[in-house]
Amino acid sequence: MTIPLIGSPTRRRLLGMTLSAAAAGVLARPFIASAQGAAPFSLPPLPYDEGALAPAISSTTIGVHYGKHHKAYVDNLNKLVEGTDLAGKSLEDIAKAVRGDAGKAGVFNNAAQAWNHAFYWNSMNPKGGGAPTGTVADRINEAFGDYGKFRQEFFTAATTQFGSGWAWLAVSPEKKLQVVKTSNADTPMAQGIKCLLTCDVWEHAYYLDYQNRRADYVNAWLDKLVNWEFAAKQLAS
Ligand code: FE2
Repeated sequence: MTIPLIGSPTRRRLLGMTLSAAAAGVLARPFIASAQGAAPFSLPPLPYDEGALAPAISSTTIGVHYGKHHKAYVDNLNKLVEGTDLAGKSLEDIAKAVRGDAGKAGVFNNAAQAWNHAFYWNSMNPKGGGAPTGTVADRINEAFGDYGKFRQEFFTAATTQFGSGWAWLAVSPEKKLQVVKTSNADTPMAQGIKCLLTCDVWEHAYYLDYQNRRADYVNAWLDKLVNWEFAAKQLAS
């Protein structure tokens, strides 16, 4: 199925609702960043309207971030893998296959960024923010002591990542929740690490709304947007 890249807001919302409804019924299924199992990939629909995260993140930021940056990663990847032995692989498998291969850095960057951004949109919810409940809360308490200590560690990771990158809540090989940060396009997924949430700290994620105040963006992300239901689904998958 090919999804229009720039459809009407109503169509995008309907597609997002359909995807969300499908996802809600399959709690044990791992996150899939693309509707396509192989190239050509298309830009997946946002799970909400472009203005739904305001005022924490404006529709202008989402429009550029999703419609320009995320779209460019998808388009670039399609061109890079066309006619190669990577064309039959999923986003996840492409990123895992070429990570660390200097000759395929462009393929890795675009595949990883296509996956990271799809994961990022799902890591936020217009009605999100604050502390988790249920199993995720238990696992947070087990790993960090309490939610406040987790929040501080995640905030520190997101605000101290030098330059462009990502802050993640992930599951360590010892099955313990951990906060990690990655630079540029790098992603724990490509190392076989299960991810639960991510916050994009590239400047394009917040500069139009917050200029250089990354800390204000990260605070808003944690307090107004973080999607613990999505994290719970990843944990259960
Ligand atoms: Fe981004």
